[in-house]
Amino acid sequence: MKGIILAGGKGTRLYPATLCVSKQLTLVYNKPMIYYPLSVLMLAGIADILIITTPEDRPQFTRLLGDGSHLGINLTYAEQSEPRGIGDAFIIGADHVGPDPVALILGDNIFHGPGFSGLLMSVSDNVEGCVLFGYPVVDPQRYGVGEVDDDGRLVSIQEKPQRPRSNRAITGLYLYDNDVLRVASELAPSARGELEITDVNRLYLEQGRARLIDLGRGFAWLDTGTPESLLEASQYVRTLEERQGVRIACIEEIALRKGLIDADQCYRLGEQLANTGYGEYVMETARSAGGAAIRGVA
Ligand code: DAU
Repeated sequence: MKGIILAGGKGTRLYPATLCVSKQLTLVYNKPMIYYPLSVLMLAGIADILIITTPEDRPQFTRLLGDGSHLGINLTYAEQSEPRGIGDAFIIGADHVGPDPVALILGDNIFHGPGFSGLLMSVSDNVEGCVLFGYPVVDPQRYGVGEVDDDGRLVSIQEKPQRPRSNRAITGLYLYDNDVLRVASELAPSARGELEITDVNRLYLEQGRARLIDLGRGFAWLDTGTPESLLEASQYVRTLEERQGVRIACIEEIALRKGLIDADQCYRLGEQLANTGYGEYVMETARSAGGAAIRGVA
């Protein structure tokens, strides 16, 4: 399965912070926002990932993440000059996706919860149609909304409805079979001139090929759209990290645990960030994985 991170847009609700920095590079507690969606794709076992950014922001993303080889993955970049819709990711990314199924994640979506990695691995293993992830929210009118029947089957999808038929927001992580390339290429733009992801999903639904998986209680799907929600997301990450002594979305640790890099490589990545708690954590993770074989260990 191929991966796409959509990290374009202007981030206008975070102005002036995002006037000259991409929203998806802003800080969520101790790491750039894009680490969070990138870690989701890595946890799903996806190692070939296209990052779509604005032309202006592309150099910073490349500087941050390079070609991904240090993490044992393959990162490539493409540009979206104007926000032409989330569905536009499949037009821009068609060559990258090739004949494969694809996972699309929005660069500003943060997911965290028990069992997520296992869930992603099992779902991404064999995608037929599309798989969406639902999350209960108090303000569904701000999101795509999924309605399910008594048997848990998805029956309708609305985009930012004034009168939502349920409180299940459809999150910004979408898995599709390869047919999505055709669906997106045949899609007409909406009234605001965008290829709406909800229209893509509705077409799948009309063919009985859309599934909604509920991310249950105890799961966190965090918003980063406004200064307030961004701060809340940072506080959430900080609280968990400090309390449990773990790191959320530490891409070096994920690469190590997935066997994409070895303990020595991981240690060296930590060394480059040695003056920070993040870097120390990466080194410590590498040490415990490789014991005395790791440089710098007595
Ligand atoms: O976060 C989940 C929600 O994302 C879904 O529930 C909605 O169904 C979906 O439409 C979307 O809603 P948003 O209001 O968050 O969409 P927005 O236009 O803000 O785009 C989300 C992110 O995707 C944003 O950070 C920028 C990026 N983006 C968006 C568009 C439309 C692009 O990079 N290019 C684009 O053309």
